[in-house]
Amino acid sequence: MTTLARSPLVSKSASLHEVEFGFDVERVRADFPILHQQAHGHPLVYLDNAATSQKPKAVIDAIVNYYEGYNANIHRGVHYLSERATAEYEAARKVIGQFINAARPAEIIFVRGTTEAINLVAQTYGRASVGEGDEVLITAMEHHSNIVPWQLLCQEKKAKLRVAPINEAGELILAEFEKLLGPPTKIVGVGHVSNALGTVNPIATIVKMAHAKNIPVLVDGAQAVPRMPVDVQALDCDFYTFSGHKTYGPTGIGVLYGKLPLLEAMPPYQGGGEMISSVSFEKTVYNKVPHKFEAGTPDISGPIGLRAAIEYLQRLGMDNIARHEHQLLSYATEQVSKVPGVRLVGTAKEKAGVLSFVMEGVHPHDIGTILDQEGIAIRTGHHCAQPVMTRFGLDATARASFGLYNTKEEVDALVRGLEKVREVFA
Ligand SMILES: Cc1ncc(COP(=O)(O)O)c(C=O)c1O
Repeated sequence: MTTLARSPLVSKSASLHEVEFGFDVERVRADFPILHQQAHGHPLVYLDNAATSQKPKAVIDAIVNYYEGYNANIHRGVHYLSERATAEYEAARKVIGQFINAARPAEIIFVRGTTEAINLVAQTYGRASVGEGDEVLITAMEHHSNIVPWQLLCQEKKAKLRVAPINEAGELILAEFEKLLGPPTKIVGVGHVSNALGTVNPIATIVKMAHAKNIPVLVDGAQAVPRMPVDVQALDCDFYTFSGHKTYGPTGIGVLYGKLPLLEAMPPYQGGGEMISSVSFEKTVYNKVPHKFEAGTPDISGPIGLRAAIEYLQRLGMDNIARHEHQLLSYATEQVSKVPGVRLVGTAKEKAGVLSFVMEGVHPHDIGTILDQEGIAIRTGHHCAQPVMTRFGLDATARASFGLYNTKEEVDALVRGLEKVREVFA
């Protein structure tokens, strides 16, 4: 790992604190136009990064350049603009594939986001391989997008959705998970980082356990890819999914990674243009992977914007980003726990980016509303993970989630805001 004092990302004016907290965060913040505004008369403190992250200027510029410079439909034009747009779209696939260390660009399928990626796998791989009496195994900490697509599949196929339990800290109980892997298990779906608890799951171990029984594993990486280096070959997972908008890229674009032999064997998801190599009324021959899964005109500016986001992250270094967020999370955990009446929800040993909590006698919604008046954006509710709330006997939590541009001072502002909440409800 590079020493921060020598990192080109640390400007001469960087204070010791900034260096300790990963990189020159003020310089990073300058790249995000949206952060420099007031909310309700206070400097905006954006701590809702698990919902969506803000976009650096490089991403905004890449999208503007596309629409101003080379907007055209791709893959089917012989003219200059179309060839350029196609080249950029396919170049984005290559950069994005390398970012998660996919073995080939063809293993990267562009979709709308994590939700669509999981639905795609459930409706193609799932429908082809899950039958009556079979099982799909997930965990008790999944986001609704890694529950409902499997539920739909299980209903259709008369299969069973099994759920591996978590402990009081919000960690997957690996021994129980392993016991649930059996001959009826046709696929495992597991989150890399829980959006409601912050827990980081030991994916490589989970994959080994499943593969020992020849069961493929889909990983929901929506909260992991923006926060830590991800290497799909090292994890050896069969499918990996993430969303552009949580990765400092645009909305409307996401990625499904799949191992090529699996993708090649899978039936298509949607029918239409682009996903075919020939069509007659009698028979359609499908296009090669990845185009087989990208029916119709895709979101062209999306991959171009996401590529810019990824190149931005690569310039900062994913190790630096992970360390910065880890230090912020440790500091926030320490400071927020000191606020009287606050209880953290999710205290796993391995956590990333997310601090969920409740406050005695105050509904999380009220916490969010009062903090908003102080210019602080957090999220309150069930975070699309209602079974997690049920597991902890709650209907909602307040959640602060960190991004690469957040600072220690913003954590201090959050703590001051929480003191204010206490005063209001005293
Ligand atoms: C862990 C996790 N999985 C899946 C999703 C769904 O992502 P998207 O709405 O971008 O499809 C989210 C979004 O909050 C998430 O946090």
